[in-house]
Formats: sequence, C-alpha cells, structure tokens
Amino acid sequence: ACGVVPEAWRFDCYPERGVVVTRELCEARNCCFIPASSFSAPGRNGVPWCFYPPGFPSYSLVSVKATELGQTGTLVKTVKTYYPKDILTLHLELLYETDHRLRVRITDPSESRFEVPIAVPKATEKASSPAYSVELSNEPFGIIVKRTSTGAVLLNTTVAPLFYCDQFLQLSSSLSSQYIYGLGEHRSSFLHDIHWNTLTMWARDVPPTELTNLYGAHPFYLAMEEGGTGTAHGFFLLNSNAMDVALQPGPAITWRTIGGILDFYVFLGPDPASVIGQYLEVVGYPTMPVYWALGYHLCRWGYGSSNATWDVVKNMRNYGIPQDVQWNDIDYMDRSLDFTFDPATFSTLPDMVKDLHSHGQRYVMMLDPGISSIQPEGEYWPYDEGLRRGVFINHTDGSTLIGKVWPGLTAFPDFSDDVTHEWWYDNLKRFHDKVPFDGLWIDMNEPSSFVDGSTVGCPDTELENPPYTPGILGGLLRAKTLCASAVQKTSSHYNMHSLYGLLEAKASACALKRMLGKRAFVISRSTFPSQGQYSGHWLGDNRSHWKDMYTSIAGMLTFNLLGVPLVGADVCGFSEQTEEELCVRWTQLGAFYPFTRNHNPQDPPAFSPLARSAMKQSLLLRYSLFPLLYTLFHRAHTHGHTVARPLLFPKDVRTYGIDRQFLWGKSLMVTPVLDPGVDFVVGYFPQGLWYDYYTVRTQDHRFHLDSPGQSMSWKEHVFKGEELRLKAPLEHINLHLREGAVIPTQRPNTTLFVSSGQPLHLVSSLSEDGSAGGELFWDDGETSDTLETDQYAHIVFTVVKVRSDHYRPVRSHSVHGGEGTLRPLQTSTLT
Ligand code: NOJ
Repeated sequence: ACGVVPEAWRFDCYPERGVVVTRELCEARNCCFIPASSFSAPGRNGVPWCFYPPGFPSYSLVSVKATELGQTGTLVKTVKTYYPKDILTLHLELLYETDHRLRVRITDPSESRFEVPIAVPKATEKASSPAYSVELSNEPFGIIVKRTSTGAVLLNTTVAPLFYCDQFLQLSSSLSSQYIYGLGEHRSSFLHDIHWNTLTMWARDVPPTELTNLYGAHPFYLAMEEGGTGTAHGFFLLNSNAMDVALQPGPAITWRTIGGILDFYVFLGPDPASVIGQYLEVVGYPTMPVYWALGYHLCRWGYGSSNATWDVVKNMRNYGIPQDVQWNDIDYMDRSLDFTFDPATFSTLPDMVKDLHSHGQRYVMMLDPGISSIQPEGEYWPYDEGLRRGVFINHTDGSTLIGKVWPGLTAFPDFSDDVTHEWWYDNLKRFHDKVPFDGLWIDMNEPSSFVDGSTVGCPDTELENPPYTPGILGGLLRAKTLCASAVQKTSSHYNMHSLYGLLEAKASACALKRMLGKRAFVISRSTFPSQGQYSGHWLGDNRSHWKDMYTSIAGMLTFNLLGVPLVGADVCGFSEQTEEELCVRWTQLGAFYPFTRNHNPQDPPAFSPLARSAMKQSLLLRYSLFPLLYTLFHRAHTHGHTVARPLLFPKDVRTYGIDRQFLWGKSLMVTPVLDPGVDFVVGYFPQGLWYDYYTVRTQDHRFHLDSPGQSMSWKEHVFKGEELRLKAPLEHINLHLREGAVIPTQRPNTTLFVSSGQPLHLVSSLSEDGSAGGELFWDDGETSDTLETDQYAHIVFTVVKVRSDHYRPVRSHSVHGGEGTLRPLQTSTLT
C-alpha cells in the first residue's frame, strides 16, 4: 500500500528533528519507508521518507447526535500511537455559528484540558442558511467541509490520521489551493511557499530569519480557492501551545501542536476581505489608535542622554521635518531598571517631555518585562512590591523564577493574573508622576531571557521534555525564555508562553487608558490573536539591507490580515549601518507603513540635503494623507478591514503573489523602489482605470509613465492587467489612485494636530462613468469611544456626472455629526 501514496501526499510519520530516520525506526511506528525521488531544498523538511500508510490507525466516529447549534459525536480509538498518553475517547462538537462561520471542537470528555483564555463569541442560534456543508466520515473519522455554492472542498481531515495524545495533537487536511497567507509570525514572502514548508510557532526573541519561529504566534490562514472563482476562506486553530504548521504540495496542511485542545474555525468569506472580517469577529477588531500614533516616530538605542535625544527633536524642527513622537530605548533607564531614569545622563528627561508636549509632540519609552531582583531591599519598589503582592512567575516549588535580561537577574511578572495588572498600573502611575510619558513600547516580551529556563535550570518534567518538540529555534521550549514548567496563575508557562506579549499589552493598554483617560498607545514585539485590540506591533530587529526592506511589506500585510493594522518595520533598518539611498527609499516606503518609526542613528537630518529633502517630502505626503489613513483605521476598528492591503484582486490570479506593491484601503496603490541604483520601478496594474496620484493632485502633466509605445504623459489610463515600468527618481514614490475614489487629504504640517483646522481637500478619481465615492471619519483624535458617545463626524462623499460636460462637484452628506468638541472642517474643495 505504501507505493500508492504520491510524494506530494506523504504525511510525515517521523517529524522529529535531529534524528536520522532509518527504515527500522520508521517501521517501528508502522509507517512506510521509501526514500524520496529527489533531494529536497536544504533547510526544509523535504519529502518525508517515512510516512503514514493508508489505513494507519486513527479514530472512528461511533455516535453522532443533533444539537441546538449543530452536532456532537464521540470518537474512539483502539490502537495506541507511539506517543505517550493517547486519549482514546474524544468528544466532537460541531457548531454552525453563523452562515459564514463553522466552529469545531475536539475535547477530552473525561478531563478538562487547557483552553486559550481569550474571549470568543458564543453563538446562541444555529446558522439558518450556512454557506458550507459538513460531511462526517466514520471510519476513519474525518470532517469534510465544502462551500455549498461551488462544491469546493475547504477542509478534508481524512487525508491523514488524527492524533490526540496529552502532548501531541495532530490534524491534517487537504488545502483547496496553493494560495495560503497568514500564519505569522515568520519572515517569508506574503504568499507562503507550500513546498514542504514547516512554519513553527512559539514566541521567540530572534532577528527575523526565514524558517524560524519569531516573536509572535498566529495560527490563522487565509486561502484563495482554486478554479478562478476568486472565492476565499479562512481557518483558525485556537491553540497557544508550541506547534508546527507543515505545508506540503498535495496541497495539504498538518497542524501539530503539543497541548491544549483542537478548537478551530472555518470562515467562508467569500472574498478575502470578508474572511478577515469574520476572523476578527472572533478574536476582536483592532482598537482605534490615538491620532498621533499615525505620525512619524523617531527612536534609537543609545542616544546616551536626554539632551542628545532632545537635540534630535530640535534638529527635526529646524528643518521643518514632520515628527509627532520621540522615543527612548532602554538607555534612558537607570542601570536598565524599569520605572527609573538615569539621574545623571537623563536628568533633563522630564523637561524634554514637557517641551515635546508644548510643541504638540509626544513621548514614548520602552519597558521590558524583566524586573531586577538584585537591588538592595527597600531600594527598588517594583520588585519589593511585586514580591509582596505575589505577581511574579514561580518555579513549581513556589520559589520566584529568576532569569537574566538587561539589568542582570530578573523576575517576570505574570500578566495572566489581575493582581499583576494592578501592580503594573501602580508602577506606571508612579513613574508618570515623574515623567509624563504618552505611550509604551513593550519589548522582550516573548518573554526573552539571556539564560535558558532560569538561573537554576528547570526541573526534569514532561512539560520541559515533551515527547515531541516542534521545530523551535534552539530545540528546547526553554531556549532563551522561561522554564516551560513555570507556574502562572492561569496555567503553566508551557501553555501560556506565546500569550505573554498579548497579556502584557492588555495590562499596559488598560493601565494607560485608566491613567490618561484617553486612547492608549502601545507597541508590542510579541503578539497573539486579538493583539490588535490592545496594541500595534513592529517587525523587530531587522537589518539595514535592501532585502529587509522588501520583506517588511509581507510582514506589514500579514499583520494587517491578522488584525494588527498598526504595524511597521524599523525604517532604514535596525542593525548594521544604513546607507543614504537605502534610507531614502525606506523612508518613502515607511511613509506608507501604517506605523512608521525610524529606530537607529539615522534620522533625516543626519543625511545630505538632497536625501533629507526627499525624506521630508515623503513624510509631508504621509501627513497630507492622514485623513484617509485615519478613516481607514476607523474602518478597521468598526468592520475589521485592513489598512495596508495586498493587491489581491480575487479574479486576477496574477495578483496573488504580489508583495512588492500594496494598497491603502481599496484605492491608493503604492509602488516603492526596493532595489539600489535604479530610477524606475516595475509595477503591476490590475484591470481598470488608474490615475497617477501626483498629476491628479496637482493637475499638472508630469511624466511618470514610461511604457513602450505609449504616450509619455498621462493622468489616467485604462489597464488590462499588466506590468508597467514607472519612472522613480530618488525623490519620488509612485502612487496611483484607482478609479471611483474620493479620498480626504489635509494640508500637511510638522505635527498631526487633528483638530488644528488645517484645510481639508478631497481628491477624486472618477470612474469611466463619471462617478466616485469615499468617506471621512473625524473626531478629536484621542478620546476613547467617540463612536459610542456620539462625538464624531462621518461624512460620505459621492460624485455623480449630471451632464456629459459637467461634473457635479462632490456632494457630501454627514452621516453623523456629533456636536460639542468637534471643530468644524474648514474647507472641502474638489481638486
Ligand atoms: C530589542 C528590540 O527589538 C530593539 O528594538 C531594542 O533596541 C533592543 N531590544 C534594546 O532595547
């Protein structure tokens, strides 16, 4: 029977790393052993030589019954697997939650197991006309989910045996196509390679590297379906344990997790945007950012003093370069201790922050979770008080777990405990009384430690040495983090590890909101599903390389579809020395990251006048587009839309792999230069009418199109779906507006004062029939819940053609106009 299994459909029976799989080892698992026909690419698992034969023992479905929300059933297995503690009887629950959302839970009926502590919706009624059908296979047990309208198979778990052991749960399924997106956090192209590509999830502090588990864990994918239908669906495994997600060319996928339960969702879309919206309905829509979050942020590790930091800000002001926020890295702290500032080198910090405020600017500083445990008693309140309140993560014997971070030996707050949230708030409040900061940068929250496990190691237990360890960097769960067996309020660190960043972000955002009475600004390195409710994210320790600039687009797009739209990479690169051309191009691209921060000694004034002016221009351009960006964030917050969006036109397969261009919303296309030494860029124009943003905006006829056989001068052009070579001199970033849009813009200034009353303009790109539409969401930019309290304006714009030679200018109507704190919008002109 082994010979009948095509290579693309071999499911790995020996995924353990560091083992040379021999025929003997393989056959001891009752699996097939056939060497692969060719060598696979290095660094990947490649075609497995040891794979499950057809008929490998799995579960049988022995009973099913209808319930109010769907069905339940019992699964039974008689033959044990080669991993310890098989759970031989399982409970199956199918929940037809909405017409576009199916939930499946497989649990242990005899004992409760760990479940991810995030709030998900609870359906009360069975979907009345689901867009999916579910078939159950009894022997072996399997679930087959189809899209009713097309018959497309979205899920078929009969392709490989189901495993459900205490520390090894494995579910495989066919995929409907090779077009898979999401599955963060990894460094890769936006469209995943499914050729034996295993993506491991376990929060980890490591500079973004291919095929490595990075800072966050997001077991969600979006899939475009085969057959040119343009339909899309999604899949989410609600599980936080260390896991492998193995993609193979079948096309098929295997979820291999080492704890928790199998609890997953299928989202029916049917278009990619609806899939994302449906996923975010489950994990939570992103928060509405405070307006200045969308300004330009400057940061560096090693300014060395508050005066040096202040000088950077003053220099930016002198050159009239936009800047809303100044940051400090750990060097502001006294000996790297949280909630302190260096009394010598940063003595003027409070004055600098006041000066920022008086210029309408904001201040954000870093906090690391590690709390120094070695200060003399009575001298460091955060630790003394933390011990007193019992906020730290412990070893199994009840002693405080000590690791090592920047200040030396540290304890780690357990953010799964409310008591810790209160302690965190108190610390922030005490520090804020000295330094009136505006937002928080939470770093090292995987959590990262310079020793594996703890200073005294970890006990030798099943949690520390699971029978199977996913392909995590370092090969051990405790590598560069805490012991897996460590004790947290909600559960063991084994289960809670990848949730650390989420729970710290939640504690931080809640504390800020409570303390400042406004929307909280938090940027977190580690993330987990539902993160967007509390924080944004930056893509970590990238390098000053052209390749890192390119991969940042995929990172940004992926986090947008994961519900964390406030995202960007360190502009110009974090490690290594940047160069001027790279930094100019990166600042231009960064001007279109939803979150744009430069983090290194490479602020615009540090460069030549030419480079500086190009950077300034791109930042002014961003600031002029702030009303659009802000409105897109409102859409993300209220409807689960993406802000930065892939050029994924469902009906055009050629767009499925594009990650060198992207859109803001549905209309503004960004085509950055990503290579050195060029003054042009090739971009893809999906079918339709596109306008050069600059010619539309200024009404002049600058030359930007350089395509053989075509006129050199254009304002608008109808495309069939084609690649074009565009002019891109150093000071220029190509922007195109899709037909039918009305976008709100603003005269830019050096800070984003939302209520400053700058003139607003509308830019309209008429479609061929002369129509266009758009919207503006506007409020005071910082009050929480303006929507719920009716303190906002939402204006919808439409352009209609009334006579062949005459356009009726933009007709605007206020969908909702709140009274009170809103300043009137001053002008509204159609250019
Ligand atoms: C690691 C962070 O990723 C980086 O941005 C920061 O500069 C260093 N920690 C120092 O705090």
